[in-house]
Amino acid sequence: MTRRDLSEISKPIKTELNRFNELFKDSMKSRVGLVDLIARYIIRQKGKKIRPLLVLLSAKVAGGVNDRTYRGAVLVELLHTATLVHDDVVDNADKRRGFWSVNKIFKNKAAVLMGDYLLSRGLMIAIEGKDFDFLGTITNTVKRMSEGELLQIQKTRKLDIDEETYFKVISDKTASLLETCCEIGALSASDNSEYHKAMRHFGESIGIAFQIRDDILDYEGKAKLIGKPVGGDIKEKKITLPLIYSLNHVSNGEASSIRKMIKNGNNKDSVREIIDFVRRNDGINYALDKAHFYSEKAKQTLKIFPDSQSKIALEALVDFVIDRKN
Ligand code: IPE
Ligand code: IPE
Ligand code: MG
Ligand code: MG
Repeated sequence: MTRRDLSEISKPIKTELNRFNELFKDSMKSRVGLVDLIARYIIRQKGKKIRPLLVLLSAKVAGGVNDRTYRGAVLVELLHTATLVHDDVVDNADKRRGFWSVNKIFKNKAAVLMGDYLLSRGLMIAIEGKDFDFLGTITNTVKRMSEGELLQIQKTRKLDIDEETYFKVISDKTASLLETCCEIGALSASDNSEYHKAMRHFGESIGIAFQIRDDILDYEGKAKLIGKPVGGDIKEKKITLPLIYSLNHVSNGEASSIRKMIKNGNNKDSVREIIDFVRRNDGINYALDKAHFYSEKAKQTLKIFPDSQSKIALEALVDFVIDRKN
């Protein structure tokens, strides 16, 4: 699937998405010239907008889109943008969405502060709207995302991550936000707590599938499409599911020589060799199976909602997430 399919998926929610885009742009306005400059740079880059899409579609499936839904969608995209700007500082990344990263152009200092600005704007919007239920879930998510990233750093230092810890990391650093998106959509649209719970579970499963796919793309993606270099995780010494599986299925000797390569090497040859090692040992297929497991689980949780165009779109979004090339 490509980005065109994402616009197919967005069809039932097109008007709402346009309105969201306007509000999102407005939410970043500032009297400080540098803030505005960086904001305009970020807006030009056009991410996939999966998180606001999840908020809007979840709301529509659970009852209908209203003003609160829009505030929720802006809140989650602001938080997402903040974490990406911070993440590129943490990962020392040059590229994001096919452009130079904010830290590359405006330097780390400005990037860290801009991330804080975006996060606080999101929280302010929820406070101004008195959306205290959103704040409850989103602050817990901010906590989990930071913990997930820190656990990842801890594991990167020792190179000793196992599958269970991997799932904990991706559930915290990525799935927690998608979970919140779907919960916020449902909260804005309905008082039915069963709906809130089901949407949260849906978001968690699609979130896990999303990050597994992201980690696979690091091995087999096309840099041009994903907008960041292939093999980036290996360079950062980040061991993700395809590699964890492969390391567990070879002799101790071979595993430790690969580990050594990860530890020492940061050159093209060793990255190439590790990618080949993972392909040879079925790591990608294993990760794909897991992604499919979670995508099926996500679809199951939608069963309690009445059939609608928006529900079909959510199901299609699940397929997009695991088939995506960007
Ligand atoms: C990137 O998310 C960060 C991860 C959780 C892997 P997206 O791939 O949704 O980012 P954009 O917004 O489309 O660039
Ligand atoms: C993305 O994490 C940021 C968060 C989920 C907070 P990664 O470092 O794994 O993703 P990319 O590859 O930079 O998008
Ligand atoms: Mg990172
Ligand atoms: Mg990163």
